[in-house]
Amino acid sequence: MQASALAHPNIALVKYWGKRDTQRNLPAVGSLSVTLDTLATRMTVAFGVGDRDTLLVNGEEAPGMLGRVSRCLDDVAGADRSPVRVDSESNFPIGAGLASSASAFAALVVAADAAAGTNLDRLTLAQVAGAASGSAARSLYGGIVALDVDADQVGLSQLARVDEWPLAVVVAITDAATKPVGSGEGMIRSAETSPFYSSWVEQQANDLATARQAVASRDFKVLGEIAEHNCLKMHSVMWSSRPPIVYWNSATLACMESVRSLRADGEDVFFTIDAGPQVKAVCLPESRHAVADALAAIPGVEDTMIVGLGHGATVVEP
Ligand code: PMV
Repeated sequence: MQASALAHPNIALVKYWGKRDTQRNLPAVGSLSVTLDTLATRMTVAFGVGDRDTLLVNGEEAPGMLGRVSRCLDDVAGADRSPVRVDSESNFPIGAGLASSASAFAALVVAADAAAGTNLDRLTLAQVAGAASGSAARSLYGGIVALDVDADQVGLSQLARVDEWPLAVVVAITDAATKPVGSGEGMIRSAETSPFYSSWVEQQANDLATARQAVASRDFKVLGEIAEHNCLKMHSVMWSSRPPIVYWNSATLACMESVRSLRADGEDVFFTIDAGPQVKAVCLPESRHAVADALAAIPGVEDTMIVGLGHGATVVEP
């Protein structure tokens, strides 16, 4: 009745921002992402321990997250399941725009499924993880992943395996503190108040089609153009919300500028930024050291990491 799973965060190149159905946490738009390696969350789920659910995050009780975790466990094992002890360990900052909830909920559903012996298929597990954190559905799959949404459910597809297009990502940490506005709250605020929200939703199918085509033809330039455009469009929706949601700091802007100038100098690189001030510079593997060196030299950049593309969530030894 105990199992462990490991999952990696994923970074969207075409972003999810907005919910079609807040009750079921159904995204308003599809998205496209790369699953990372190196950064990881390891989750151990033990059913039948104690008389209530408990959650430890990096060794400390985390009551704030427990409700979402318990609901997610109900979805896997049934509401009549026994109490659970969940241990979550991540090797990177949590709640800082590095998709820690994606790796956490992806690992949670896989560990819970193995511990409960429910044997749910991958798409069902992805849908359950997505109901807790929309982006988590994508971390069930490795490489380059598309999430499509129709009237009442999400579908997932792997567009390229890790070895089929081995991109690199340089992560520049500009502030590891927890973000001021959570993504769930931010999305609802944007939908209610940003004058740009409806055109963001309307244009997403086009951006996704462009990105999908770029992945299919391994066209890094087109993928970079659409990813930067889509990222800046999402942040425009955030900035134009009331009150505004601004995740960037001055180092975030300096990193973006550096990526543009690296590109002008012939490096194959583009940036993307999520609900936090960190910059992810996606590059072809040949460019990764030049990109990492340039970003590390920027004042305000606290740390840089070079990561590759990783696999989907899997069961591991406890
Ligand atoms: O899955 P959530 O609720 O953490 O939202 C993720 C939102 C972004 O990271 C900003 C975009 C994305 O598609 O991952």
